[in-house]
This record gives sequence, structure tokens and C-alpha cells, in this order.
Amino acid sequence: MTAPTGARLRPMRWWDIEPVRVLEHELFPEDAWTVAMFWSELAGCGGPAPLRRYTVAEAPDGSIAGWTGLAFAGGSADVQTIAVAPHRQAAGLGTVLLRDLLTAAADLDCREVFLEVRTDNDRARRLYERHGFEPMGVRRGYYQPGGHDALVMRRDHTRPLPPAPRPRAPGVDGTPDTPASADRPTPPAPTDREA
Ligand SMILES: CC(C)(COP(=O)(O)OP(=O)(O)OC[C@H]1O[C@@H](n2cnc3c(N)ncnc32)[C@H](O)[C@@H]1OP(=O)(O)O)[C@@H](O)C(=O)NCCC(=O)NCCS
Repeated sequence: MTAPTGARLRPMRWWDIEPVRVLEHELFPEDAWTVAMFWSELAGCGGPAPLRRYTVAEAPDGSIAGWTGLAFAGGSADVQTIAVAPHRQAAGLGTVLLRDLLTAAADLDCREVFLEVRTDNDRARRLYERHGFEPMGVRRGYYQPGGHDALVMRRDHTRPLPPAPRPRAPGVDGTPDTPASADRPTPPAPTDREA
């Protein structure tokens, strides 16, 4: 099944780093992750005991439409990042990516999922709230170098996900493609700007 915008979800691979980096600079001009951080994160996806899961949404033309990253250990998970290419936003893809990531966290037996989001990022906050994330507190000046505050949110992952949104248009079903498996290779702990 294809996601909104016709994108297909699959594991992120090393050759995705460059197109992701370009989009990353558009989406997070103040605190974009470096190539080294992405390499390090992908390294954590592989081996006998992976600690990361990175997924991309690939558009029919082969371009990157969006991506997510999850860190997990000891029954707890963190949303490392989630992003949708600017021209593909507001079509439901962010919802599909988040639901795919949360489904993976459940499959990994995570009982809680955490994230940080800029307090002024209303769209992302709404997306998280719709999926059961609740505010825990604010970290002042968390995002550097801008000095923006982060809202810390937690999802009680013993609770089921809310139903998927209804399709927007014929042919757009709002459900994810086959969940990507975690079969990949950790950048430096890239926690300056988590999702
Ligand atoms: C946050 C982000 C990932 C959301 O991705 P997106 O693809 O735009 O998200 P969606 O399209 O699923 O949801 C956006 C809107 O469409 C609506 N929508 C989604 N699916 C829908 C559907 N099937 N039918 C009707 N409306 C729908 C949602 O209700 C939402 O509305 P809202 O913004 O008024 O709350 C994206 O905006 C982004 O990449 N932002 C920049 C990077 C960023 O801030 N990342 C988060 C860091 S914490």
C-alpha cells in the first residue's frame, strides 16, 4: 500500500543521507543535523542489538518525501526526528510516518515514547497530541544555537493508537506501507534537536 503522496516507506540507507541533508537544512535551518550525525544514527540500526530505527518515505519519482528516526532501549523509546519535505506537507504523510514509528515502538515492546518539540511548532505539537502524547515539562533553551525552548512529551504506549484518519481523497488511504524493518547500521548522540 502506498502512503499519501504515493510515497513508499522503507528503511533509510546511507545513500539517503545526502538528499535528507539537503531537506534537513530547509526544514531546520538553525539546527540541522550534520552528515556525521546521520551516519552515526544509521550505524545504530544494524548489528545483533539495534538501538535505532530510521525510515524514509520515498516518492514515486525516487525523491525523499519524509523520514523518521526512533531510538529504543529498555522498554522505552524516543522520537529522534520526523520530517516531511516542504512541498509534501499537509497531505497526511507526517501522520503516516508517525503512526509507522509508533507501531514499530509497540512491536519493540516499548511501554512509553518520549519526544521534544519546539514550543512554537504548533503543527508538530498537534500531530503528537492527536496520537496521545502529553506534555511533561519545558526545557528552556534546549535548541541551540537558537536558544528555543523544548516541550517534552510522553506517550503511555500501553494505550492503543487512535484510529487512522479517514482518507482525504480517492486513492489516498492514510495507512502506512509495510512497516520498514530495522536492519540498518550510531552518529554521536544527536540530541540537540530531537523531534
Ligand atoms: C510536523 C510535520 C512532520 C507534519 O507532517 P505533515 O505531513 O505536514 O502532517 P500531516 O499532513 O499528517 O498533518 C498535517 C495536517 O493535515 C491534517 N491531516 C492529516 N491527514 C489528514 C487526512 N487524512 N484528512 C484530513 N486532514 C488530514 C492534519 O489534521 C493536520 O492538520 P493540522 O496541521 O491543522 O493539525 C511537518 O509539518 C514537518 O516536517 N515540519 C517541519 C519539521 C518539523 O517541525 N518536524 C517535527 C520536529 S519536532
